[in-house]
Amino acid sequence: MIGMRVLVVGQGGREHALVEALHNADDHPQIFVAPGNPGMEPLAERVAIGPTDVESIVGWSRKNEIDFVVIGPDAAVAAGLADALREVGIAVLGPGAAGARLESSKRYAKELLQRLGLPTAACRVATSPAEAEAMLRGVTYPIVLKADGLAAGKGVFIAADEREALATIDAWMRQGELGDAGSTILIEEYLRGEETSILVLSDGERWMLFPPARDHKRIGEGDTGLNTGGMGACAPARVPSEAEAIAIAKQIVDPVLAALREEKNPYRGILYLGMMLTEKGPQVLEFNARFGDPEAQVVLPLLTEDPLPLFWNAALGRLPAERHATFVKHEGAAVCVVLAAPGYPARPATGSDIEGLEGPWPHGVHVYHAGVDRHHGQWVTSGGRVLGVTARAMTLDDAREAAYAAASHIYFPGMQYRRDIALVPEESRSEES
Ligand code: AMP
Ligand code: GLY
Repeated sequence: MIGMRVLVVGQGGREHALVEALHNADDHPQIFVAPGNPGMEPLAERVAIGPTDVESIVGWSRKNEIDFVVIGPDAAVAAGLADALREVGIAVLGPGAAGARLESSKRYAKELLQRLGLPTAACRVATSPAEAEAMLRGVTYPIVLKADGLAAGKGVFIAADEREALATIDAWMRQGELGDAGSTILIEEYLRGEETSILVLSDGERWMLFPPARDHKRIGEGDTGLNTGGMGACAPARVPSEAEAIAIAKQIVDPVLAALREEKNPYRGILYLGMMLTEKGPQVLEFNARFGDPEAQVVLPLLTEDPLPLFWNAALGRLPAERHATFVKHEGAAVCVVLAAPGYPARPATGSDIEGLEGPWPHGVHVYHAGVDRHHGQWVTSGGRVLGVTARAMTLDDAREAAYAAASHIYFPGMQYRRDIALVPEESRSEES
């Protein structure tokens, strides 16, 4: 569709990558972003509406004759933005609130997986602190504690011993540190293995895969320290192979999509499978109802076919039958290094000047803006994850080198980043030796 008007909802690095991918579409769509950030201004017109202000987004989209909406953040999906847009006849890539429960309620997702007999960590659900504490008796550590609801990346804690587990139960369930999200928790078996993010483009029945990506969730090198939203990513991941990824998707995605169709909630959007590849086979860690961030920042730059018609067809429930269970065409490898603010993830400090952001950047380098603002022409930090420096090359090693070379030109006070993005994880290295 020539001259299509497309609205991307969100403001981080993932949305910058989406804006760029859609801006480059063959039919030259006009891209809008709500609210976006100043780094996206060369590619998209910004609209000053927050991602969860459903009523305003719908009203603005109608008034401005938006043809298609692509939703980035989990909170917007969970808020039912897709339902509200579909109701007024606007095509949207993203599931409705019912499908979003795969992400917004870990309990719902776990119970669905169990009902369908799909592989996932053993788990018990507690709805009071006393119940949770009682469940700790006799468990082996480490144990994984998960808040049921959306908690901005803070809802998973891996407790090394009982003292840590009790402290987390107290913080979440008595002190209410995560608000409502932590009033129900899951106590889950700790799985060992290599993690992978498999992003699936679903039209409700048929699906296609993006190259599997690997996210580095912990703040520290060697996968140490607190969980973050993601400190970097690479794609394709070392494992699984493409054939294995298709097999995993057939095993997991087909039954999940069928279950949602049965409930009359066809899932039209991105289904993110967070998988742990264990000795006993692949196990589902979590679902997300949207593109991962930073995964989107490595997956989208690899595409060699225009994603817009695929997104559009998925949104309308008509991915071509012959593309079912195939990959979106892609080539090469990409590495994204996240540059984070000091204090991230606990208490990021913002408002520092950023130097070295203007480029020009070598071919294949994309500097995605996330927690970035601009005051009187000066770039300043405005969030925890500030920038995603992505490089694309023919091999992972070359992409890694190019991403770090680009990152070395950028500076802000207290900037933190991991030096081991896209390296083999510590754990599998020690298991191999
Ligand atoms: P989630 O928000 O569910 O992705 O969890 C955040 C991170 O915690 C995951 O990416 C894993 O690294 C880790 N994690 C979650 N569940 C488990 C588990 N059952 N065993 C080991 N690690 C886990
Ligand atoms: N990078 C993990 C996520 O987007 O949830």
